[in-house]
Amino acid sequence: MKSILITGANRGIGLGIVKQLVSNPSSIEFIFAGYRDVNKSKELLDLAKEHSNVIIPIQIDVSDDESCNKAKIEVENKLGNSRGLNCLLNNAGVNKELKFNDINEKDMLDTYKHNVIGPWRVTKTFLPLVEKAVSGERNVLQASIINVSSGMGSVTLAPTMPFFYFDYQCSKAALDMFTVCFAETLAKSNIYITLLHPGWVQTEMGGAQAPLTIEEACKSIVECINSMKNEHYGKLIDATSGSSCAIIPF
Ligand SMILES: NC(=O)c1ccc[n+]([C@@H]2O[C@H](COP(=O)([O-])OP(=O)(O)OC[C@H]3O[C@@H](n4cnc5c(N)ncnc54)[C@H](OP(=O)(O)O)[C@@H]3O)[C@@H](O)[C@H]2O)c1
Repeated sequence: MKSILITGANRGIGLGIVKQLVSNPSSIEFIFAGYRDVNKSKELLDLAKEHSNVIIPIQIDVSDDESCNKAKIEVENKLGNSRGLNCLLNNAGVNKELKFNDINEKDMLDTYKHNVIGPWRVTKTFLPLVEKAVSGERNVLQASIINVSSGMGSVTLAPTMPFFYFDYQCSKAALDMFTVCFAETLAKSNIYITLLHPGWVQTEMGGAQAPLTIEEACKSIVECINSMKNEHYGKLIDATSGSSCAIIPF
């Protein structure tokens, strides 16, 4: 993989993946690291200064068309005419942690806007660049779109869960369905499309009680992405299994 765009890379899992990629010797040329707000992105922007030849910070708000279009032009200019984008990792997401009695239309729609419409908007915007990267057989490292979902969106597993965040779980189940439909629609394109569950991770969203540090989780995520094969296409992959790429039922 020579290029990747990660949305929501100023903190949490997104930033952890940037750190993993830049710390391991590999053939990667450009890590396009998405952030929204300069004031909340100091760590990423400092890291990008340290590795200015590889990490390219890209301002992108996944809920805004204009922001996505602007980001696409920046990425395109950096890649140049002849190269496409090898991997789009739709990582940005929100969780309003709505319990049954908290459910309201505004918050439900807002989570859906970020977690479902957001990945769709970014995908639609960057699809031409990923298409440009296609070469030969379907290969995750050559041309891919990976949506970061959650085991909490699994309808099969939901009855075993101790509590429910209605907005979040409904939105991730919808993201899963979107991705399966999209993967089927583009099955002949040789773009690799799939979903990834990062595990329960100590981020702002995951909370301090989560079992995995960001570093542990992101090491496994990178191993997992590097190991994805045809049988993992259009599936929800448990990244905590690393190179085993265990499949979580929808
Ligand atoms: N942590 C876990 O245990 C866990 C488990 C399963 C799945 N996941 C999934 O993993 C992904 C990353 O989660 P995380 O734990 O790293 O969460 P986090 O620490 O809360 O970080 C969320 C990231 O998304 C960005 N973001 C939110 N709305 C955005 C928008 N409109 N445009 C661009 N960026 C936006 C945030 O940017 P700002 O700083 O600008 O807000 C931040 O970079 C999410 O999709 C989440 O659902 C996490």
